[in-house]
Amino acid sequence: MKLKNRNFITMDEWKREELEFLIGNAMKLKKIGYKSKPLKDKIIAMVFFNPSLRTRTSLQAGIYKLGALAIDLSIGQGVWELEHKEGIIMDGKAAEHVKDAAQVLSKYCDAIAVRKFPDMKNWGEDKKDAVINGFAKYSDVPVINLEGAMEHPCQALADMMTIKEHFKNLKRKKLLLAWTYHPKSLPMAVPNSIALASSKFGMDVSIAFPPEFKLDSSVLKKIKDNCLLNKSNLEIFNNQEDAYKNADVIYAKSWGSINFYGNPEQEMKLKQNLKTWIVDSKKMKLTNNAKFMHCLPIRRNIEATDGVIDGKDSIIYQQAENRMHTQNSLLTELIS
Ligand code: CP
Repeated sequence: MKLKNRNFITMDEWKREELEFLIGNAMKLKKIGYKSKPLKDKIIAMVFFNPSLRTRTSLQAGIYKLGALAIDLSIGQGVWELEHKEGIIMDGKAAEHVKDAAQVLSKYCDAIAVRKFPDMKNWGEDKKDAVINGFAKYSDVPVINLEGAMEHPCQALADMMTIKEHFKNLKRKKLLLAWTYHPKSLPMAVPNSIALASSKFGMDVSIAFPPEFKLDSSVLKKIKDNCLLNKSNLEIFNNQEDAYKNADVIYAKSWGSINFYGNPEQEMKLKQNLKTWIVDSKKMKLTNNAKFMHCLPIRRNIEATDGVIDGKDSIIYQQAENRMHTQNSLLTELIS
């Protein structure tokens, strides 16, 4: 399968067969280890606008295991602030434009991986993911999305590998994406990507959230289209009990409300009554012995109870481990 030189920005741009191929190779890497160094002498730039524990470490550790060099660039901390707006008069904070940074990094590196969270002020602007797409537009080498406003595809790839490690056949298996309370307004990238990925892989997808926390309609349409194509179910719930029934996977995640975008105080007021949106053992008992998943970081006893997080059905550390194997599989195909 020829995947060389592709960007990895959204689930949408990748076929199920291609993602299955990457996951298959990741499973082999996990099993046999990293004796061969397929990326010897390659260099990968990791551009972080935001904090990270898993993405930064799994990528850098994985790149080392593949025989390549990772250069960690944290924007604003020893690296110039970057502007992304086209045609702008650059008299603000940013000293350099993405257009220039992307082309310069392409001269030194074989791939560029970028994390740029949304500013959480204007959804219409944020959903363009202008920085990550700016890198993709101007780079001569593959660009990998390490989480933007719309998607976190590396997370979803690892999640699907983890699900496949537990369920040989995903057909009719029900994944519930369960919104949880959180004291902050969080981006929608992870919920978007796991719902897109699981629907692409033919799972039945349920999404449970309070009415004000609907996902972006363009993403919901794609999830619906995937389910139609795969003859699987998409169900939306605004109450928790019905949603948990017969689920095989509970994927817990909080995300912000598009209705209150840019207005976290208003959202917080609304959320004061939503603290029961937590994954606990009582709700897990309604499921079909479901596995518990979360991308991490997780706020214990806010998003899920200790009992669930540390329980026998929790596969959160397996998810985190698989970040490295799936990213290594991806990098090997894109640049070896
Ligand atoms: N899941 C995830 O991307 O973790 P980090 O934010 O720590 O990278």
